[in-house]
Amino acid sequence: MRGLRSSPKRLSSKYFYDDEGSRIFKKIMHLPEYYLTRCETEIFEQEKETWLRLFDPQQTGFELIELGAGDGLKTKILLKHFLQQKARFTYVPIDISAGVLTELADNLHNELPQLSVKPTEGDYFTALQRQLSSTDAIRRVVLFLGSNIGNFSESETIWFFQRLKDLLLNGDLLLLGFDLQKHPSVILAAYNDAQGVTREFNLNLLRRLNRELQADFDLSQFDHYPLYDPSTGEARSYLVSRIQQTVRLDTLGETVQLEAGECIHTEISRKYTLVQMRSLAQSVGLQPLAWFTDSKDYFTDMLLEIRK
Ligand code: AVI
Repeated sequence: MRGLRSSPKRLSSKYFYDDEGSRIFKKIMHLPEYYLTRCETEIFEQEKETWLRLFDPQQTGFELIELGAGDGLKTKILLKHFLQQKARFTYVPIDISAGVLTELADNLHNELPQLSVKPTEGDYFTALQRQLSSTDAIRRVVLFLGSNIGNFSESETIWFFQRLKDLLLNGDLLLLGFDLQKHPSVILAAYNDAQGVTREFNLNLLRRLNRELQADFDLSQFDHYPLYDPSTGEARSYLVSRIQQTVRLDTLGETVQLEAGECIHTEISRKYTLVQMRSLAQSVGLQPLAWFTDSKDYFTDMLLEIRK
């Protein structure tokens, strides 16, 4: 309600990911315009051998913790390779969506029965904290992939890095996947696909409010409106009210007024340059060790070490 009462109105993108939202996001990852997943997959295929050497140089074993695991499609490339190489590790997927996590656990159980998996439900830091207090692994390698970092505001990004540094130990690693700044039209198309899947993803937020808070948003009266600002590297998505309307949220006993053309800001997907990310990480005590880019130079996975 605070977001819907603000000016401009906003809703956090973390609410996108109910089971339906997670299902739509899976579709997005396969869209021709959504290059991010394909580029990161290419990097994973290319670097899996190097990464195992970097993650576990002494072959003493490690814990592979993934924040926001989703369907683990890219991570499976690593898991398969690590198992083939007989690496000693446990995979700890953390996700906010219980449905997604159960599906992933079942799938891994079938496909990689020899894998040690510890699915953990919850938001990143609650789940991470719970996990860290129950383990004495030698080294933790945290995966934060798919440009999830781009969905944070600047202050959230700094808070995220600091929190991670506080929770992890000296020498632990973070593999951070982020999207690079590039031609604005390539970026904009990724958030405005021709099939309208991203539009559905954005509108699903209202569908979720209708269902969970007995709201009466009429989805046909809202447009999906993405934009990209090359001067800040921010892709932003909005829902635009087509008409003047009043929406009820019965569970909360509240109403919200929208003007014709008024926007609800729903998502930020920030794109970085390598230099920006390196200095941002360094400023909070995360040391960039190496970075790996796809053949188009669209996406990067950066390996950072916790230095305390
Ligand atoms: C999950 N996250 C990194 C996606 C992104 O690109 O910001 C979410 C997304 N939103 C629209 N399309 C994809």
